Amino acid sequence: MTKEELINEAIKARAYSYSPYSKFKVGSALLTNNEEVYLGANIENASYPVTMCGERNAIYNAYCHGVKKEDIKAIAIVADTEEPCSPCGACRQVLSELLPVDTPVYLGNLKSKIKITTVKELLPFAFEPKDLNA
Ligand code: THU
Repeated sequence: MTKEELINEAIKARAYSYSPYSKFKVGSALLTNNEEVYLGANIENASYPVTMCGERNAIYNAYCHGVKKEDIKAIAIVADTEEPCSPCGACRQVLSELLPVDTPVYLGNLKSKIKITTVKELLPFAFEPKDLNA
Protein backbone atom coordinates (compact mmCIF):
# COMPACT_ATOMS: atom_id res chain seq x y z
CA MET A 1 0.00 0.00 0.00
CA THR A 2 1.34 3.45 -0.89
CA LYS A 3 1.48 6.35 1.55
CA GLU A 4 -1.31 8.04 -0.42
CA GLU A 5 -3.50 4.94 0.01
CA LEU A 6 -2.75 4.80 3.74
CA ILE A 7 -3.60 8.49 4.06
CA ASN A 8 -6.88 7.78 2.25
CA GLU A 9 -7.65 5.11 4.86
CA ALA A 10 -6.98 7.72 7.57
CA ILE A 11 -9.34 10.13 5.80
CA LYS A 12 -12.01 7.39 5.82
CA ALA A 13 -11.41 6.84 9.56
CA ARG A 14 -12.39 10.48 10.22
CA ALA A 15 -15.98 9.34 9.64
CA TYR A 16 -15.78 7.45 12.96
CA SER A 17 -14.68 10.52 14.92
CA TYR A 18 -16.91 11.42 17.88
CA SER A 19 -16.01 15.07 18.30
CA PRO A 20 -19.13 17.08 19.19
CA TYR A 21 -17.09 19.49 21.37
CA SER A 22 -14.12 20.43 19.19
CA LYS A 23 -15.74 19.46 15.88
CA PHE A 24 -12.17 18.58 14.87
CA LYS A 25 -12.10 15.14 13.24
CA VAL A 26 -8.83 13.24 13.34
CA GLY A 27 -8.42 9.97 11.44
CA SER A 28 -5.51 7.57 11.59
CA ALA A 29 -4.54 4.35 9.82
CA LEU A 30 -1.82 1.97 10.96
CA LEU A 31 -0.27 -0.37 8.37
CA THR A 32 1.34 -3.71 9.29
CA ASN A 33 4.03 -5.64 7.43
CA ASN A 34 1.21 -8.03 6.35
CA GLU A 35 -0.53 -5.07 4.69
CA GLU A 36 -3.30 -5.08 7.29
CA VAL A 37 -4.77 -1.69 8.19
CA TYR A 38 -6.11 -0.67 11.60
CA LEU A 39 -8.13 2.52 11.86
CA GLY A 40 -8.64 4.98 14.68
CA ALA A 41 -10.44 8.28 15.17
CA ASN A 42 -10.62 10.75 18.04
CA ILE A 43 -13.34 9.99 20.58
CA GLU A 44 -14.29 12.90 22.84
CA ASN A 45 -16.19 13.09 26.10
CA ALA A 46 -18.15 15.72 28.03
CA SER A 47 -15.43 15.21 30.63
CA TYR A 48 -12.94 16.73 28.17
CA PRO A 49 -9.63 15.30 29.47
CA VAL A 50 -10.74 11.70 28.95
CA THR A 51 -10.87 12.26 25.19
CA MET A 52 -8.74 9.83 23.21
CA CYS A 53 -6.82 10.96 20.13
CA GLY A 54 -7.25 9.35 16.72
CA GLU A 55 -3.72 8.03 16.32
CA ARG A 56 -3.67 6.48 19.77
CA ASN A 57 -6.95 4.74 18.98
CA ALA A 58 -5.44 3.34 15.75
CA ILE A 59 -2.40 2.03 17.67
CA TYR A 60 -4.51 0.56 20.48
CA ASN A 61 -6.87 -0.96 17.92
CA ALA A 62 -3.91 -2.72 16.26
CA TYR A 63 -2.49 -3.95 19.58
CA CYS A 64 -5.94 -5.22 20.61
CA HIS A 65 -5.94 -7.34 17.46
CA GLY A 66 -2.60 -8.95 18.34
CA VAL A 67 -0.31 -6.67 16.33
CA LYS A 68 3.17 -6.40 17.87
CA LYS A 69 5.60 -3.50 17.68
CA GLU A 70 7.80 -5.30 15.15
CA ASP A 71 4.78 -5.94 12.85
CA ILE A 72 4.20 -2.22 12.29
CA LYS A 73 5.20 -0.67 8.95
CA ALA A 74 3.72 2.85 8.93
CA ILE A 75 1.05 5.12 10.35
CA ALA A 76 -0.93 7.97 8.79
CA ILE A 77 -2.65 10.80 10.64
CA VAL A 78 -5.06 13.23 8.98
CA ALA A 79 -7.20 16.20 9.96
CA ASP A 80 -8.74 19.15 8.13
CA THR A 81 -5.83 21.46 8.84
CA GLU A 82 -4.01 24.04 6.73
CA GLU A 83 -0.72 22.14 7.02
CA PRO A 84 -0.36 18.36 7.53
CA CYS A 85 -1.77 17.52 10.99
CA SER A 86 0.92 17.19 13.64
CA PRO A 87 0.41 14.76 16.55
CA CYS A 88 0.10 16.03 20.14
CA GLY A 89 2.78 15.39 22.75
CA ALA A 90 0.89 12.56 24.47
CA CYS A 91 0.53 10.75 21.14
CA ARG A 92 4.24 11.21 20.40
CA GLN A 93 5.04 9.50 23.69
CA VAL A 94 2.75 6.57 22.77
CA LEU A 95 4.13 6.37 19.21
CA SER A 96 7.64 6.28 20.62
CA GLU A 97 6.97 3.31 22.92
CA LEU A 98 4.60 1.22 20.78
CA LEU A 99 6.05 1.67 17.26
CA PRO A 100 9.62 1.00 16.06
CA VAL A 101 11.55 4.29 16.21
CA ASP A 102 12.21 4.39 12.47
CA THR A 103 8.56 3.84 11.50
CA PRO A 104 7.47 6.34 8.84
CA VAL A 105 4.71 8.66 10.01
CA TYR A 106 2.66 10.24 7.23
CA LEU A 107 1.00 13.46 8.31
CA GLY A 108 -1.75 14.68 6.02
CA ASN A 109 -4.64 17.03 5.50
CA LEU A 110 -7.59 17.14 3.11
CA LYS A 111 -5.65 19.19 0.57
CA SER A 112 -3.34 16.28 -0.31
CA LYS A 113 -0.42 17.92 1.51
CA ILE A 114 1.81 15.25 3.02
CA LYS A 115 4.68 15.51 5.46
CA ILE A 116 6.79 12.42 5.99
CA THR A 117 8.52 12.04 9.32
CA THR A 118 9.46 9.25 11.73
CA VAL A 119 8.63 8.32 15.29
CA LYS A 120 12.15 9.27 16.40
CA GLU A 121 12.01 12.64 14.66
CA LEU A 122 8.71 13.45 16.36
CA LEU A 123 10.08 12.73 19.83
CA PRO A 124 13.84 12.85 20.18
CA PHE A 125 15.33 12.07 23.60
CA ALA A 126 12.13 10.28 24.64
CA PHE A 127 11.37 8.97 28.10
CA GLU A 128 11.66 5.20 27.65
CA PRO A 129 10.75 2.04 29.59
CA LYS A 130 14.45 1.50 30.40
CA ASP A 131 14.51 4.81 32.29
CA LEU A 132 12.28 3.20 34.92
CA ASN A 133 15.10 0.81 35.86
CA ALA A 134 17.73 3.49 36.44
N1 THU B 1 -6.52 15.23 18.57
C1 THU B 1 -6.14 14.05 18.02
O1 THU B 1 -6.97 13.16 17.77
N2 THU B 1 -4.81 13.85 17.77
C2 THU B 1 -3.84 14.76 18.03
O2 THU B 1 -2.66 14.46 17.91
C3 THU B 1 -4.21 16.13 18.42
C4 THU B 1 -5.60 16.30 18.91
C5 THU B 1 -7.95 15.43 18.86
C6 THU B 1 -8.28 15.48 20.33
C7 THU B 1 -9.57 16.27 20.32
O3 THU B 1 -10.65 15.40 20.09
C8 THU B 1 -9.43 17.19 19.12
O4 THU B 1 -8.39 16.66 18.33
C9 THU B 1 -9.12 18.63 19.46
O5 THU B 1 -8.01 18.72 20.29
